[in-house]
Amino acid sequence: SVKTPPARSLLDWYDRHRRVLPWRSGPGQTADPYAVWLSEIMLQQTTVKAVGPYYHRFLEKFPTVQALAAADRDDVLSAWAGLGYYSRARNLHACAQKVVELGGFPNTVEGLLTLPGVGAYTAAAVAAIAFGVPVVPVDGNVERITSRLFAIEEPLPASRKKLAVLASGLNADKEARKRPSDFAQALFDLGASLCSPRSPACGLCPWVTVCAAHKAGIAATLPRRAPK
Ligand code: ADE
Repeated sequence: SVKTPPARSLLDWYDRHRRVLPWRSGPGQTADPYAVWLSEIMLQQTTVKAVGPYYHRFLEKFPTVQALAAADRDDVLSAWAGLGYYSRARNLHACAQKVVELGGFPNTVEGLLTLPGVGAYTAAAVAAIAFGVPVVPVDGNVERITSRLFAIEEPLPASRKKLAVLASGLNADKEARKRPSDFAQALFDLGASLCSPRSPACGLCPWVTVCAAHKAGIAATLPRRAPK
């Protein structure tokens, strides 16, 4: 039996410390699925800081999913130039066309998974942030937080499945399920700030009292990684 961390502590921390990011709307609100999806695709392999200017320029050029679907592929690729991983831009264009065919973004994880370039992480992120579906998107930050909360010493990548299962239960608390978008983004912020890879600031963490790795004195060493 696995203990659920108290969502209220994390959400209270988030309400006080949340980052102001271009794709974030106000507390408790959902956001335009097109903008959320675009930001999540850009953030897959690029840092928050680098994404900012691209995100704004891209939305200025292609303000809606219809505009993006109707654009020339070369214009889409040139708006992407500099972000790298160009298969993302090709999938982005194909995805926009499929969304227009469907008459809008699917609002479930299963529906989102049918879109080109949308994998488990992105489907969960868009479902939670844009549609308020109570799911936990699992990226590297969320894996790290989870490995520490439950003191999972088995190294990645072997532990990935176990971490995904544990992470998907982080929102079992009903307070988390009332605010799926904020809960997901609170995890991203916790991973990007206090629960950092090398020197976690456990003394400031809203979950310090329930963190098994902190209790065992091994937080900074997790997640372990198998030697390549
Ligand atoms: N990384 C991936 N998605 C993010 C988001 N919505 N906010 C902050 N960092 C992220």
